[in-house]
Amino acid sequence: MRIVLLGAPGSGKGTQAKLIVEKYGIPQISTGDLLRAAVAAGTELGKRAKAAMDAGELVSDDIVLGMIRERLAEPDTEKGFILDGFPRNLSQAEALDTLLDELGKPLQAAILIDVPFDSLLKRLTGRLTCEQCGAVYNIYTNPPKQEGVCDKCGGKLIHRADDNEETIRNRLQVYQQQTEPLIDYYEKQGKLHRIDGEGDIQAIFQAVSAVLDGLS
Ligand code: AP5
Ligand code: MG
Repeated sequence: MRIVLLGAPGSGKGTQAKLIVEKYGIPQISTGDLLRAAVAAGTELGKRAKAAMDAGELVSDDIVLGMIRERLAEPDTEKGFILDGFPRNLSQAEALDTLLDELGKPLQAAILIDVPFDSLLKRLTGRLTCEQCGAVYNIYTNPPKQEGVCDKCGGKLIHRADDNEETIRNRLQVYQQQTEPLIDYYEKQGKLHRIDGEGDIQAIFQAVSAVLDGLS
């Protein structure tokens, strides 16, 4: 199963990707997570990416494409993969198609998690992420049982550095300008599936699962 999760910042790509990993056993490849790990580790790549991430801008295509090429060469992607937060502009989408054609493994579907813009700010300002296992919570809509502690692994819950109002506004603008054109791109390829991303997380996952079950 080879899929892309499309959607605005805060639409629930990471939340749904984790549920897909659990049910279907294919890896989640989140360029945002890979970049944050590089920033935290202080690598050269992380240093180059940090300023763009702090400003809510896109990191340069060469950095992101290099990371994706490396990640897709790992053996756990044999059974498939979920791309979360990649591609994010037309040139990344075209480069991905070329790369997957070379590998003889074309993309099967792009699933758009559709959420009205007014809901996104609240979702992002309220988000908490486990620094150990990456589980995602929300202080308003999906709180952990114990404040500041991950239900799944007991890890510490942290607030993402780019989840402040100013950066969020820019991320949303960047999404509209650079990423939204991909909806049309995948629609023309006949690969686009739209899912209503508002409401109960499990109900949304059922809709996502129905699309995935129709692929194989
Ligand atoms: P990235 O990490 O990809 O962030 P993003 O696209 O802004 O998306 P988010 O992770 O914020 O949202 P999400 O859709 O995963 O939502 P989540 O499930 O967490 O990118 C970060 C930065 O890295 C970018 O700004 C850029 O600088 C750089 N970058 C990354 N990829 C790049 C690329 N390809 N090219 C260039 N630069 C790149 O949910 C959000 C919240 O909502 C949570 O609190 C959750 O609990 C809650 N929630 C989820 N579902 C629901 C629901 N149904 N109802 C209510 N609340 C819900
Ligand atoms: Mg995410």
